[in-house]
Amino acid sequence: MVSSLAALRGPAVTLVDDPFAQASRACLQYHEDALVLIEDGTIRAFGPYAELRDMVPDGITPEHFPGHLLAPGFIDTHVHYPQLQMIGAFGAQLLEWLDTYTFPAEMSFADAAHAERVAKLFLRELLRAGTTTAMVYCTVHPHSVDAFFAESERFNTRMIAGKVLMDRNAPAPLLDTAQRGHDESLALIERWHGRGRQLYCVTPRFAPTSTDAQLEAAGALLKSRDGLFLQTHLCENPGEVEWVRELFPARSSYLDVYAHAGLVRPRSMFGHAVHMHEHDFCTCHQTGAGLAHCPTSNLFLGSGLFKLFEATDPRRPVKVGLGTDVGAGTSLSQLQTLNEAYKVAALAGHKLDAVQGFYLATLGSARALGLDDRLGRLAPGHEADICVLDPHATPLMAFRAGYCASIEELLFMLMTLGDDRAVRATYVAGQRVYDRDRAGDPFHLPDAA
Ligand code: GUN
Ligand code: ZN
Repeated sequence: MVSSLAALRGPAVTLVDDPFAQASRACLQYHEDALVLIEDGTIRAFGPYAELRDMVPDGITPEHFPGHLLAPGFIDTHVHYPQLQMIGAFGAQLLEWLDTYTFPAEMSFADAAHAERVAKLFLRELLRAGTTTAMVYCTVHPHSVDAFFAESERFNTRMIAGKVLMDRNAPAPLLDTAQRGHDESLALIERWHGRGRQLYCVTPRFAPTSTDAQLEAAGALLKSRDGLFLQTHLCENPGEVEWVRELFPARSSYLDVYAHAGLVRPRSMFGHAVHMHEHDFCTCHQTGAGLAHCPTSNLFLGSGLFKLFEATDPRRPVKVGLGTDVGAGTSLSQLQTLNEAYKVAALAGHKLDAVQGFYLATLGSARALGLDDRLGRLAPGHEADICVLDPHATPLMAFRAGYCASIEELLFMLMTLGDDRAVRATYVAGQRVYDRDRAGDPFHLPDAA
């Protein structure tokens, strides 16, 4: 087989360690002029161009992005693709928002053609935002999962997704049963888990919409194959927390409902976790479960403020990733999500610096998902999912960039002023799939592997 080679050149930045555990400056690697050498979709070499230039084979000209910033593709640890059509819906907190906007939107996915249309749009909007991996809720309909993975397979993106499980407290057209949800999930696992870059995630929506029997079935599914993921919601809203207390009186906490069913473990990702007690953080630490920090959503629905610096306390650190949680979240851009994460931390008296911010959006999310052996860094052996950031994307950003005296200041400017306009290009497994400045269609399906 002939191997495919590609090279990117330009200023580059990557996280190498956890800035919540040690000094930020030790965790960031920055090269003013870097080379990323890519072979068959994997990074073979990364470092200063001057040191690595001789590794570029004859006939390969690096794609050069002077004045830009090469960075690992963003990772979104919590997002609902079927909710694109009701992002930014007015005036309700979580439980009313679900009944008024979310469930009706998800019912429209009974139509497989609708699911395919939305999956196509969603994948493109992720890539436009520089996001190359996401952990995604589909709907209760198995074909919503097929539509999503099929589109992801076309772009060769590494995605994690699953069919929502709900067997109570939702409109009848959105309900499965414990047995049917199990069997449909198992069939999807067999079809998609580990096919190319696609990974399956067992997806009970949240405790109020699943019976004990369904949560047990989710636990059994997790044991059915190696490397499966779990996603659900946890301690998002005070009314929701109270409801869970009423529905599961025998359990000691909301998290204990999931733990009892065997759902709290590595590769489990709990969205929100706003109203957590210390013992819940301890359980996450001990089990290796991850939390998805979803600041735009928590602000938009008035859910509360996630205690990021308590969760990541180095005495018992919990793995935290960053989630947009669209459609309760208001942007698919991880830059905009970091903008709000900074303000949420500030309200609790903390300073989320740019290195910590970019860690959450890249390597931190990869670690929370247990995929940091292959995602989240520019480093040899890692999959070549890369976004090219443009600090001069708007006249204001270009002006402000002129006053940034360090890479940290530039990154902070990007995370406060940046959004999808600041993503110049996105590479998936070494191939450019999005080019902001390309005339006509900015998206390009990769050549078949
Ligand atoms: N809790 C249960 N379902 C959902 C959902 O779709 N979005 C959010 N933000 N919270 C939930
Ligand atoms: Zn959610």
